Amino acid sequence: MNARHFLTLLDFSPDELRSLVTRAIELKKWQREGRIFEPLKNRVLAMVFEKSSTRTRVSFETGMVQLGGHAMFLSPKDTQIGRGEPVEDSARVLSRMVDAIMIRTFEHEKIVRFAKFSGAPVINALTDDYHPCQLLADMQTWFEHRGDIRGATVAFIGDGNNMCHSYINAARQFDFRLQIAAPEGYLPNPDIMAAAGDRVTLTHDPMEAAKNADLIVTDVWASMGQEEEQREREKVFTGYQVNTELMAQAHKDALFMHCLPAHRGEEVTADIIDGPQSVVWDEAENRLHAQKALLEILLTA
Ligand code: CP
Ligand code: NVA
Repeated sequence: MNARHFLTLLDFSPDELRSLVTRAIELKKWQREGRIFEPLKNRVLAMVFEKSSTRTRVSFETGMVQLGGHAMFLSPKDTQIGRGEPVEDSARVLSRMVDAIMIRTFEHEKIVRFAKFSGAPVINALTDDYHPCQLLADMQTWFEHRGDIRGATVAFIGDGNNMCHSYINAARQFDFRLQIAAPEGYLPNPDIMAAAGDRVTLTHDPMEAAKNADLIVTDVWASMGQEEEQREREKVFTGYQVNTELMAQAHKDALFMHCLPAHRGEEVTADIIDGPQSVVWDEAENRLHAQKALLEILLTA
């Protein structure tokens, strides 16, 4: 199958990612101006959600409608996907009917297998290992507030999870420095780290990671699927909270981002996420615009 997929940020070249961000900013402006732009008329996006979602579902569905197409929500509960129909079969069937398929699931390997058998583009809307669509929105948000991110210093504080891995890939593709602070036992995948070379560093000390950062990023301590570990993780991650003291290590004009949903009082304090350095609402809105740019590339290029 030769459809083009977006499973990680590495599926697009650095130049393509930069153009995508520029395009997302333009599409946002057009939307604000009320300009109708419907290049995806009669095109359908299937959205398979094996985990919960607010932002991802609403942004993809709204985005498809704004582009003149349609989005179809598929839950494993109501489809044969949840009753054990092989991924390979679901991929072949769905891709013969719809124009693109967005999937949010657990094992990354499952989406890779799905894509292999899909004749239509597959978009990763979060797996246990990556969340590339979120990074498109984060990069757009940075570009809007501060210009190009090349050469900037970003600190990721917390779990070495899907968001952390996508930040590592973003550091590679957008050429910025990434300082990660994560506790022992919750470190990012060493292979993903190694591939990014010396632009990515790792420490157990959040204060050190935050030093001279232009952007501070964090994420929940227990991701979807790890709910039973919540208590244990709260203990391990104490000290990894983004608060005033930690933000003070960064540059004075540093921004704060969080993919949301957030837990105030855990990974971030209310005064930071609701404070002047936080751009989380722009970041959330930009899921819509960045994914419209992504859909346009995958379905019309
Ligand atoms: N950031 C994000 O993906 O949010 P949802 O889980 O609400 O889609
Ligand atoms: N790391 C989080 C991100 C949620 C958007 C999770 O996987 O649940």
